[in-house]
Amino acid sequence: MKTETGQDLNYAKRLLERGDLVAIPTETVYGLAANALNPDAVIKIFRAKNRPEFNPLIVHCGSWEQVTHFTEDIPAVAEKLAEHFMPGPLTLLLPKKKEIQDLVTSGSDKVAVRIPDHPVSLSLLKMLSFPLAAPSANPSGYISPTTSSHVFQQLNGKIPYILEGGPSKVGLESTIAGFDEEGRLCIYRLGGLSIAEIEKVAGKVRILTHYESKPKTAGQLLSHYAPMTPLMLGNIETMVKEFGKEKAGVLSFRKGNPLISPEFQRILSPTGDTEEAAKNLFRAMRELDGMNLRVIYAEEAPEEGLGPAINDRLRRARYELKLLNEGDELPDLPE
Ligand code: TXA
Ligand code: MG
Repeated sequence: MKTETGQDLNYAKRLLERGDLVAIPTETVYGLAANALNPDAVIKIFRAKNRPEFNPLIVHCGSWEQVTHFTEDIPAVAEKLAEHFMPGPLTLLLPKKKEIQDLVTSGSDKVAVRIPDHPVSLSLLKMLSFPLAAPSANPSGYISPTTSSHVFQQLNGKIPYILEGGPSKVGLESTIAGFDEEGRLCIYRLGGLSIAEIEKVAGKVRILTHYESKPKTAGQLLSHYAPMTPLMLGNIETMVKEFGKEKAGVLSFRKGNPLISPEFQRILSPTGDTEEAAKNLFRAMRELDGMNLRVIYAEEAPEEGLGPAINDRLRRARYELKLLNEGDELPDLPE
């Protein structure tokens, strides 16, 4: 199969209507979309990404009205969040109606829904009579794509079409929010909408993000977002001293390291802005990963704004299983 990239919404619509996959741009990351109501189409997503079927998919809608068509018992706080942040980088876990099949939710009675804030995908969704199931458009376990060429690099030959929409302006996946048994608002995945923004509207939230190899809930697959090159997280200066500068790259938040050639360094935000850093994070990781380095030394962002979400991705990207050299110390695993 030849993969084409373009801006032809009618072609994308035809492909989706006949049960094929189309990669779509969103403000967070690119998604790999199929008709959410057609299980023969949805199964193709799992195959193209090599994604385990126990990991459910987000359903993308073109309007809140469409969301209410497929969900029920929507808490008042969810409506309020939707008013403020949809379209936007927020996903809500809500009780599903039966039109949403088990394959999409991996058997859960809740469905994850979101309205992407991107003109191309919003136009497409408004042209369709069904919502779109879409995970991030990367092979399972790798870094999410924030440009059409990232998608092409990894899914070329596996999908017919990539809708071009420019670089994703947020650059991190959506924040996933839901409700626990007592009806309290919980955050299951940190993402492109900061906790502070959510708390301004909804009051104090519980953060329930922890990782497992076989997650029972949102965004909690342990190894995720990982480059192929070992990535170590800590104080960059100390790591350069301890593990050497030979074939080493740097992924820093604000300042570079004088011992490493600038060519092998990516600075996420010279002005120290966590939104700018979020936007650049995945592209920077991919670029460093493409340099054939021995190791990437990375540092955390400050714990403000999108900092916690950036740090969540860095912790999951870090090197876990292989030793750099025999005898080198293995960094701690995330809790
Ligand atoms: O920004 C985003 O959310 C992007 C764009 C494409 O919309 N999508 C995305 O999808 O990040 P994905 O599949 O890479 O991550 C979705 C997360 C997964 O961790 C999955 O486990 C969780 O959402 N999820 C989806 N449906 C769920 C459900 N019904 N119950 C619990 N978790 C769910
Ligand atoms: Mg993903």
